[in-house]
Amino acid sequence: MIDSVSLRGWVITLLLLCCGALASISTANAQQKTNHESANPPNAGIPHLQKKGTATQLIVGGRPFIMLAGEIHNSSASNLEYMEPVWKKLVSLNCNSAFVPLYWELIEPEEGKSDFRLLDGLIEGARRHNLRLGFLWFATWKNSWSTYAPAWVKTDLKRFPRYQATAGRSSGIISYFSYEANRADARAFAAVMQRIREIDGQRQTVVMMQVQNEAGMRPAARDHSPVAEEQFSQPVPKELMQSLAAQKENLVAEFKEIWGGAGFRQAGTWPEVFGAAADEVFSAWHVARYINKIAEAGKAEYALPMFANAWLVQRKGQQPGAYPSGGPVAKMMNVWRAAAPAIDLLAPDIYLDDFKGITEEYTQAGNPLLIPEARRDETAAANAFYAIGQHGAIAFAPFGIDSMPDDHPIRETYKLLSSISHLVAQHHGAGSMAGILQGKDQQSQEIDIGAYRIKIEFSRSSEKGAAPGAGLVIALSPDEYLVAGMNIKPQFQPRPDSGRGVDFLSIDEGVFQDGKWVAGRRLNGDERIMQLGGKPGLLRVKLYSHP
Ligand code: DGJ
Repeated sequence: MIDSVSLRGWVITLLLLCCGALASISTANAQQKTNHESANPPNAGIPHLQKKGTATQLIVGGRPFIMLAGEIHNSSASNLEYMEPVWKKLVSLNCNSAFVPLYWELIEPEEGKSDFRLLDGLIEGARRHNLRLGFLWFATWKNSWSTYAPAWVKTDLKRFPRYQATAGRSSGIISYFSYEANRADARAFAAVMQRIREIDGQRQTVVMMQVQNEAGMRPAARDHSPVAEEQFSQPVPKELMQSLAAQKENLVAEFKEIWGGAGFRQAGTWPEVFGAAADEVFSAWHVARYINKIAEAGKAEYALPMFANAWLVQRKGQQPGAYPSGGPVAKMMNVWRAAAPAIDLLAPDIYLDDFKGITEEYTQAGNPLLIPEARRDETAAANAFYAIGQHGAIAFAPFGIDSMPDDHPIRETYKLLSSISHLVAQHHGAGSMAGILQGKDQQSQEIDIGAYRIKIEFSRSSEKGAAPGAGLVIALSPDEYLVAGMNIKPQFQPRPDSGRGVDFLSIDEGVFQDGKWVAGRRLNGDERIMQLGGKPGLLRVKLYSHP
């Protein structure tokens, strides 16, 4: 039997297919063809992650796809009309993709009845604007709270018990021991994935799913409900112990301290094995297992890459519970890996100043870097260059892209990154690409890459709000480099131990158009002191060395 919701769904699906086809014909231009692929070759497989050297690439339509994205404000996707200018903003900032929420409360306002009008409309809107999507599943957890649970979940505390920060007092967060909520959330998510497969399995506008948002518990580091107390008094599950033992050579630095602090015990109670971090590890294990069930149910329908994002520890020594305890913060990565094999990677939401340090933390233990949320201020463009150049980031997205100005530096940065994305993908994980980023008060940076050392001097203007120096460098061949970036002065030097000198053969400005280098000025004479100014640009440099 076809109910009215499914019937409406089918009609929308047909419209989607028609509009999508028309849109892809009318809006494609040469630039978009390379970077916003609208049709997928047959047998390309569904979007998936694939290792390349030390990197992991997102493969869409059979080819590496770097998400030059923006995450939209939380409520924007709740109304399709509201989304119209938001899509346009994404396009005007040269995004090729967007992170867009899907809300459990609006998808399943009535238990067991899915309403896919928004989901369908969002996919249709993205297609019309030649954008790919990463959906964010706002359900049991959103910034630790359960505000996106439907009313029928929120109001039934007996069936869907809450986390108790203090024994006996319920809160606005569903407990990770709420098995019914876990089942209901997983069922809703599976229905979403089924729908995406049905309407998008061919076209593949949706390339990625974030399962929940900044999960974890606040303000206490773990649940203190009676069932939680009972569980906490039990030994650490064997499954967790065995997985940690298997990961022992691959532990992230801070977790090594936690587990090592208690002598790497292989069995015992939570406090015996994890000492003072017991509450957080307990929460991480249970939050991650809960989310794993949801991701697993979704993947059984349509196995897109799935990730979980973290509200980060805000300062050294901050206690769990001040940030959502049990969430995928870097020090809990090994626990998450043990508990949530269906989650492909853990992603930091980076609003803190130490962008470099956080990207290093989140590339430990083989975790691929994906940044679904970052600051949208003047640092955004610089951070995009660095994340992609240094760590081969799968995605970069300033948060709240709907409220970024059209002349934000991200616009030119994404345009340039998009034009060289084929080279970036080619050099992923090969040791021939590096990122450049000016830290606070930093004057210069040295990079050893290929046969030479590159000294980068930063030329950021001292004006408040000026973008930091940043970029990326690719060793195209032993004596040829491509430098992309802004506010930097690169100088090529011999490696200190080479005993050779270096000079340049040529320095060219230029652009890549449809994957081909189009040279601009040949720089020599007064202009041979290389410099990339406030607007992102490219330099192609050929060198020779001599005794
Ligand atoms: C982090 C959350 O993940 C986002 O959804 C949003 O609430 C931002 N914080 C707001 O700054």
